[in-house]
Amino acid sequence: MYEKIDGTFSFSYCCRNSHCGLCGAKINGKPGLMCREAARQEMTLEPLDNLPVIRDLMVDRQEYENRKDSLRLFLDRVNVPAKQPEKIDLEDLENFKVASRCVECYCCVSSCPVLYENKHEYLGPAGMVQLARHAFDPRDELNRDVVAYSGGLYNCTTCGKCTEVCPHNIAPAEIIQLLRAKLVANGRAPRAVNQLIEMVKDSQKSLPPPKGKKSFLEQNANASATKVGLFVGCVIDYDVRLMPIAVAAVKVLQNLGIEIAIPPEQVCCGIPLKEVGAHEQIRELVTKNVEAFKKASCNQVITICSSCGLSAKKIWPEIYQKATGNGLPFEVKDFCEFLVENPLSLEGLPGLKLKATYHDPCSLKRGQGIYEEPRQVLRAIPELDFVEMPEADYCCGGGGGLRLTNLEISQCILKRKMSFLKDMDVEAIVTSCPTCIKQLTVGLSKQRLRSIKVLHPATLVAQTMGLI
Ligand code: SF4
Ligand code: SF4
Ligand code: FES
Repeated sequence: MYEKIDGTFSFSYCCRNSHCGLCGAKINGKPGLMCREAARQEMTLEPLDNLPVIRDLMVDRQEYENRKDSLRLFLDRVNVPAKQPEKIDLEDLENFKVASRCVECYCCVSSCPVLYENKHEYLGPAGMVQLARHAFDPRDELNRDVVAYSGGLYNCTTCGKCTEVCPHNIAPAEIIQLLRAKLVANGRAPRAVNQLIEMVKDSQKSLPPPKGKKSFLEQNANASATKVGLFVGCVIDYDVRLMPIAVAAVKVLQNLGIEIAIPPEQVCCGIPLKEVGAHEQIRELVTKNVEAFKKASCNQVITICSSCGLSAKKIWPEIYQKATGNGLPFEVKDFCEFLVENPLSLEGLPGLKLKATYHDPCSLKRGQGIYEEPRQVLRAIPELDFVEMPEADYCCGGGGGLRLTNLEISQCILKRKMSFLKDMDVEAIVTSCPTCIKQLTVGLSKQRLRSIKVLHPATLVAQTMGLI
């Protein structure tokens, strides 16, 4: 373009080989390195978001560069060990190597919903990766976890947008959780995080029980031994407004002729602890959950909360493997994933006259790679008018413990999410995560859009089948 069409076209580059990080831009809507992308007859190039534009594709990185200066991003070491070669922690070394791959292209910065709202209270994913490089350098002596904390370590929603776009596969969202784990292990976690850890330690649940009411498990758990089990999750188990989701899911599955085990021994899935960095405390929860479904002879476990599903698919196998040397004795399926694989026929049913859209929970789309299945389920409902919302996978601000640690930023992200609904004229937002359901309900209420319902796919399917 520069050579043939417009000689004044401005962009920056240097290495042409993915190393300098200067050529970051939005390519067909997604942040990436231009030098990695073959030119096509038709493509859209835009400057990165969340950075001031100087001209055309050139963005101003100075603000981030200035902030880096205060982080002491060099090896800080006074005490040299008496014995050489010195012993180093291999796990730390591995994390150090991953963080060292960062070329500061700022693709992650461009996609971070927190930086979109507030650039002053958060260093952002690139800054955290730079800090992590030194935090995991076995030779470094500075308390990098403390620096990260003052740079807004707990202001991340763990939405995974940064991980999705990083051209060097660094997974900043994971790195941020590892930095949090360092802070927790060093006894420096913020009060809200310590309270959560204490609660899970005492009750093996991530929220307090419903006052004066029985939990879903207290009312519905069964000890039957059967092939398919239901993992309920703390939010649906304890929140009386959300318990009907589990009731609906059970009815739909039973209507498909599936006998469901709901082991009473199941506890918190562990994801709230993972997100805030309490990694050591998860092991016991995972063992209890796996043993509960093993005892019930399940070879499939269905989750109705996408965060629990992410935990059961990604965290449980790793921890269980380390503890026992074995893989999980069952496979884990999200509710919609299960329905698509075990097709239910909704044809011929009266249907639901409803205009609805779908919000992709971060833990389902980026966490589990599932986004088509819920849409397939919704499209199968007769008379339901399904419309896509813009930025359907934009975080609602409810994850990563952000509501505990920085409610203000969480609400700002939610407000932006609500703005995508403008002019859509929908009657319902459907989503597979109970925390998103709670967060979106608050957002709609604040925008005086209370007439829009927030529903779980299980509720809609059960309604279509006339089960609730
Ligand atoms: S973490 Fe990845 S996306 Fe972010 S600046 Fe580094 S290389 Fe770029
Ligand atoms: S996980 Fe989401 S909120 Fe956290 S740094 Fe990455 S993009 Fe930002
Ligand atoms: S030109 Fe250096 S990373 Fe693209």
